[in-house]
Amino acid sequence: VSIDLTGPVVSDAPGWSSQEILRNDEEFIGSAGKVRFSPFTPVRGEGGTLTDAGERRYVDFSASSGVAALGYGNPHVVEAITSELARLNIASLATASLEQAARLAGRLARIAPGDHAKKVVFAATGSEASDYACNLIRAFTGRRTIVAFEGSYHGATSGSAGVSGHPALAYARGADTALLPYAESSADEAVDGALATLESYLSINRSHTAAVFLELIQSDGGIRVASETFLRGVEAACRRHDVAFMVDEVKTGLGRTGAMLASAAMGLVPDVVVLGKALGGGLPLAAVVGPAAIMDSPILIASTLGGSNVACAAANATLDLVESEALLQNVRDRGEQFKREVLGLASPLVSEVRGRGLMAGVVLAGSSDRDLGADQAAAAVALRAYQLGLFVTCSGSGNNVIDITPPLIIDASTISEGVAILGQALSDVGAGRFDMSELANYAGWGQPAERVTNETRENEDV
Ligand SMILES: Cc1ncc(COP(=O)(O)O)c(C=O)c1O
Repeated sequence: VSIDLTGPVVSDAPGWSSQEILRNDEEFIGSAGKVRFSPFTPVRGEGGTLTDAGERRYVDFSASSGVAALGYGNPHVVEAITSELARLNIASLATASLEQAARLAGRLARIAPGDHAKKVVFAATGSEASDYACNLIRAFTGRRTIVAFEGSYHGATSGSAGVSGHPALAYARGADTALLPYAESSADEAVDGALATLESYLSINRSHTAAVFLELIQSDGGIRVASETFLRGVEAACRRHDVAFMVDEVKTGLGRTGAMLASAAMGLVPDVVVLGKALGGGLPLAAVVGPAAIMDSPILIASTLGGSNVACAAANATLDLVESEALLQNVRDRGEQFKREVLGLASPLVSEVRGRGLMAGVVLAGSSDRDLGADQAAAAVALRAYQLGLFVTCSGSGNNVIDITPPLIIDASTISEGVAILGQALSDVGAGRFDMSELANYAGWGQPAERVTNETRENEDV
């Protein structure tokens, strides 16, 4: 029997207008999954720019939260995806050995710091991979507690949200999580205090602590760059107390900071590294990389879609290009250019520009003259920038940081174009030329107090 499954021809159908997309998005997509700052409806991308359903062009300072490292439509990645898709769109690495995954695992094992034998466990998302990392280390050590840090974001599944310190995930905090203070480079005096807190925690609780898990630069926490002294101190404390040192490089990994891995560039040798976002070249793929002894765990961690053939082909093609020194140099140069040009704006709303490479945070202050909170200022600047042709999002425990994570291939003139728009948005918001009531439809991360927490749930039950 042959069944005609060609389906209706849709290629010539006109695409939806922005209004049509937004209408269905509002009616059928749950807001729990949305962190929105504007009514952006991208339908096409090219290099470092995006075009919306109304044919408006935008400079992209988000790269899809870091996923689009090589921008949009990179021919090498597109060719790898389309040819592998036509050849073998098989998913489950759990039940068969697949060439693309085997190649990729070898490359990731070499890229991760340390000369010891390493292996990889694949996942489909960063959340899933963070979850796996915690479960693998719990199984290996026979201990339950994960030490994590205030402001951290490791994902949205129960396990990964459970070890996150971001206020928006407070509802999911795990009973086996210890949240300790994180020390940023801009607050070096906090380093001794944060290390002392960790030391005293581990001295007392080492017998049930499996690992310390952290981001080298907190991403959704507001592009908070950890002090290197702090990071080295954390690694040393882990060694001293024999607990695992696990690093979440889902955002910082694969070129974002101007090095292949931020941990390697800092001379750190984590026991476990978690990768995601850029890894799949736009397809869902994440990975946990660690010593064979941990990754050959007797517990079952099998993901149907983790390590799928097409996603791994995309990852191999992405690595071919991200490993180029010319690209990494571009990341460092464009990152410096961005900082220089934003500071050159001398906006009174900007209190700090921080970050590494093309992972920058523009920290906003409020304005007492205008009775404007720093979080409102950031949301307003993001929406005004969108109206002027720049796509950016906000982050931070106080929702007051503009995230700057453009595609790594962005060129000097596109950076300048984006900074000019950001400058206009800052001055419009600072001068009261932006109608704040327009923010009503865009909750962003939501005010922490508005998100449901365990406490409010308990109160509701009473
Ligand atoms: C550092 C970090 N870890 C983990 C995650 C979760 O990744 P995903 O959203 O792919 O599940 C994110 C996502 O924002 C992240 O920034």
